[in-house]
Amino acid sequence: MTHKGFTRRVFLIGFMGAGKTSVGRALARRLRWTFYDLDELIEQEQGATVPQIFAKGGETAFRMLEATALRNLLDRPAPPATEDGPGLVVALGGGAFAQPENRETLNASGGLIVLLEAPIEELRRRCRSEGDTRPLAADPDRFAELYSARRSVYELAPLRIQNVNKTVEQAAAEIEDLIVASAGGKQ
Ligand code: S3P
Repeated sequence: MTHKGFTRRVFLIGFMGAGKTSVGRALARRLRWTFYDLDELIEQEQGATVPQIFAKGGETAFRMLEATALRNLLDRPAPPATEDGPGLVVALGGGAFAQPENRETLNASGGLIVLLEAPIEELRRRCRSEGDTRPLAADPDRFAELYSARRSVYELAPLRIQNVNKTVEQAAAEIEDLIVASAGGKQ
């Protein structure tokens, strides 16, 4: 299937544990596009894990690296919408979209922003089952506060899916359908 007439950049946003990385990888595979996980890019560039970056420079240092990594990634010119070349799927860290600077970067890039949603209990359960390595998921109260504080910002996303009780493939297929529909159907 070709996907013409729409941006070839898709950004997955949502809270910690929403499934952005796993679904993003599957989506990129389906579309035969390139996948990037912004946290992984930061870790590769810094030669340090996200928890190590937080431990050394705090959240402020991490946010600066995050904003720079996103700008650098999107600095390359976008392929023309009608070209059949590979597009880009990017999974953003849960806090990236909450930063106005990053929203500007994303808006300027003209990509499609898709929110992955799940109830807080489910997000918490997933983070715990992944070993609670996320610095901002360690304290349940802070986790809940952040979840409430970010909701109104996440609401700005034009597209969304509920990522609950679905396989990674099902969620990716749902996003693929949204992308195609937002471009006016399959071509
Ligand atoms: C964060 C989410 C993490 C990572 C960092 C901060 C956040 O990414 O960027 O720990 O502020 O919500 P995931 O959403 O992929 O866990």
